[in-house]
Amino acid sequence: MNFKKFHHLVLLCFIGFIFNNCNGGSKQAEDDIPYVDPMTNLGIGPVTSVELGELDQAMVEEGKKLYDAKCTACHNINTKLIGPPQAGVLKRRTPEWVMNMILNPTEMIKKDPTARRLLREFNNVPMTEQGLTEEEARKILEYFRTVD
Ligand code: HEC
Repeated sequence: MNFKKFHHLVLLCFIGFIFNNCNGGSKQAEDDIPYVDPMTNLGIGPVTSVELGELDQAMVEEGKKLYDAKCTACHNINTKLIGPPQAGVLKRRTPEWVMNMILNPTEMIKKDPTARRLLREFNNVPMTEQGLTEEEARKILEYFRTVD
C-alpha cells in the first residue's frame, strides 16, 4: 500500500470513529429519558382533568367518524401502522394524557417522557397536529373507551 492509500484509510477510520461517537452520544441521551408511570402521567397541554362518566354512545359514534377521517392515515385500532394501535390505550394511558397527545403532539413528543419514549419506539416519526378542538378530541377519547 502506498502512502496516499494509507492516508485515505486513516481518514476513513477517523470519520467512522467520529460518526460512531455521535451516534453513541445521542443514544446515551435518549436512554436518559426519565421514567414516569404512564398511569399517573397527565401529559402536557390544555387538558388537566377529564371526567369519564357513563359511556355516551352518540359521542362514541362522532368520535369514530373523526378518528376514521383524521387518524387512520397513521393509526389502526388493532395493528401497528405508522403509529401504535389504540386498542386498550386507556389501560396504558390516562385520559388526560391521551387528549393532550391528540391536541398537542409536537410539544408532547419533545417534553413528555412517555411520548418521548414512544417517538423513539416509532423511529422518530412525529405524530402531527390534526387541528382538532378540545370537544372533538374528547369525542375521540369516548370512542377509545370502546376499543379495549
Ligand atoms: C402523521 C401520522 C399520524 C397521524 C395523522 C396521527 N398520529 Fe397518533 N401517533 C403517530 C405516531 C408516529 C405516534 C407515536 C409517537 C410519535 O412517534 O410521535 C402516535 C401516537 C399516538 C397516541 C399514543 C398512543 C399510545 O399507545 O400511547 C395516540 C393516543 C394517538 N397517536 C392518537 C391519534 C389520534 C386520535 C389521531 C387523529 C386525530 C392521530 N393520532 C393522528 C402518528 C400519527
